[in-house]
Parts: sequence; structure tokens; C-alpha cells
Amino acid sequence: MEMMKAADRRAAAGGDVLHLEVGQPTTPAPSGVLAAARAALGDDRLGYTAALGIPELRERIARWYRERYGVVVPASRVAVTVGASGGFVLTALAAFDPGARVGVTAPGYSAYRNILGALDLEVVPIRVDASTRFVPTPERLDAAGPLDGLVVASPSNPTGTMLTPREFEAVVAWCRRRDVRLVSDEIYHGISYGSAETTAAALWDDAVVVQSFSKYFSMTGWRLGWLVLPEELVRPVERLAQNLFISPPTLSQLAGIAAFDCVDELDANVARYQERRRIVLDGLAQAGIDDVAPADGAFYVYARVDHLGDAAELCTRWLDELGITATPGTDFDPEEGHRWVRFSYSEATDQVAEAMRRLSSWVGRGRS
Ligand SMILES: Cc1ncc(COP(=O)(O)O)c(C=O)c1O
Repeated sequence: MEMMKAADRRAAAGGDVLHLEVGQPTTPAPSGVLAAARAALGDDRLGYTAALGIPELRERIARWYRERYGVVVPASRVAVTVGASGGFVLTALAAFDPGARVGVTAPGYSAYRNILGALDLEVVPIRVDASTRFVPTPERLDAAGPLDGLVVASPSNPTGTMLTPREFEAVVAWCRRRDVRLVSDEIYHGISYGSAETTAAALWDDAVVVQSFSKYFSMTGWRLGWLVLPEELVRPVERLAQNLFISPPTLSQLAGIAAFDCVDELDANVARYQERRRIVLDGLAQAGIDDVAPADGAFYVYARVDHLGDAAELCTRWLDELGITATPGTDFDPEEGHRWVRFSYSEATDQVAEAMRRLSSWVGRGRS
């Protein structure tokens, strides 16, 4: 956010900015969604809906699990939410009591730490690094002490790294044995480059799946997501959702049903990410920044930069001197993040390519 503000100031002063800090697609919602939204604006009163969402959307999401993963998920266990963010708040409130110890990977998505902390839950960092291929392993989980819950994201933000199906199964088995509530953030599903995507819904009915229309479906501002819930959490989540949010946005729900039939358009976005991913990995390597987390999915490369300096200082310099914005790792990892920078490649290909050219010539010039 601070980088974005600094970038806006630079742009307002007439400077150019190449955005590698953004955490959202730059593409609009798919055309089928836009058409459905226009129709709903004309046809529907757009009042509140049921707290868990309109039945048609819950059914369509359940069908998505059958089509995409071959998994039977009853629509009754699907809760439509205000983005993954709203879904996570509901999950944390429904699944954990104050003081519960919840494991979150470091590095990991910072809002999860902040939400858990705001709800008086104890955030237990699970360090992931090159020695664990940047994913949580049973050994690292054992080292965390007793846990009530565990949040995993595969692909992850900021690393893009995915658990292999086997690694995922090992984490599920670990949670199952210890009665630890697993919360699987699957928001970057759909955006991966050859690695298999595993949904916790296929492995364990007691896991909570957090999902969203924000990334693959390219609908960040529509504020729509969903949960796949264990049976016993459906009613608590419904009551919380009714009181906290009343309902998810109605226009987004009506239009969101069409998103699942726009796969060709959405996969074309992913093909563009794939090209940009290659450009970033090659560009960073040319700039001597070649210690990176496995970029299996999402649209991020998490790269070690401590041979060049402190991450926050580097990001400030890159903005001032090169017009490039990137996100210092401190956002994702208070302890080790000063050594890392997250480069996002969700922006247009020519911008990403130009950013890499500027970066490698800056390093080539001896960083001056
Ligand atoms: C890993 C992760 N989870 C959840 C979210 C929140 O997404 P939403 O827009 O669905 O609230 C984000 C947003 O960037 C994210 O990166």
C-alpha cells in the first residue's frame, strides 16, 4: 500500500511507473460476467440475499468442484462470502476460540496474521524456506508446538510455491492426527504452470476451503468469494454472516454464476501470466537475482535480494531511480522479509519486460 502511494505520487509528478507490486489481475471480469451483471441491473431488485448466498450460485460452485476436481461437495456446505477476506473472518470466528493457537506460514499473506491477531488468536509462525522448498512440512509443524488451527495457501502469496499432492496429503494427515483445524486458502487455484492443484475438499471434510473470485476469475472489486465448510461449521458461519455482513453483494452473486462458464477467457489470462513469469525469472537471473522460491503458481516471484541491500531500501531506490515498484518481503515475513522482494507479474507484458530491462541494467551499472 505504501509503495502504491509512493508510486501514485511519482505518477502525479509526471514520472513513469512500472507496477510490479500489484496483487491483482489487471484484466476485467470475463465478458460473460459483465453481460450477466448488465442483465441483472435491469431485471433484479438487488436486495439482500440469504446470508450464505443465492442457491443458484452455491449450486454452481458445488458443480465446479465436480467438474474441476471430480469431488462431490454438497451445495449445503458452500457459503458465499465477501471475498476470501470475509470468508476468512467468518472461519476464524466460527472455528476458533479466543487464545487459540493458529499456525501461519512465514513468509505468508499478511492480512491473515493481522486478522487472527485482531480476533485475539495467537498467530504461530511456521517458517518455510529453501530447506523445506518453501512449503510447510510435518517436521516444521511439529516444531511449532500444539496448534488448534493451521492456515496453508497453495499456491502461496508471496512465493507462488505449491504443495505437491503428496506434501498436501502429509499436511492433511498431520492435522487429522492432531485434530488441528486446517484452513486451506485456494485463492490462487487456476493460476499455476504445470503443477497439480490439490483441493483440501477432496481430502478431508473437516478442512475449511477458502476461495475467491478475485484472482483466476479476475473479479477483485466485485468482493466475492466462498467457503467449503465442514458440516458442523455451516450453521455457525451462517449466523455470523447474517450478523456481520447480512449477505454478500447481490449483483456480484448474480453475475458470478457466469464466471464458471468463462474458462477459455480466464485460461487465456493464465497463458499471459505464464509468458510474463518466464520474462521475470529470466530477467531477474540476468540481474543476478537468482535465488527465488519455486514460482509454481499465482503471479509472483519471491526473490532473495540481500546481496544487493535491504529490501525496503531497494524498493524505494528502484521506484526513485528506475520507476519500478515491488513489495519488500517485510510485508509477508517480519523476521526474514528484509532479505526478500516480491515481484508481481500481473501487469501488461511490455511493462514487466521493461522493468526487467531496467533492473538488469541497474545491476550491470553497479547499482548506480
Ligand atoms: C493469499 C491470499 N488470500 C486471500 C486474499 C484476499 O482476497 P479477496 O480479494 O478474495 O478478499 C488475498 C489477496 O491478495 C491473497 O493473496
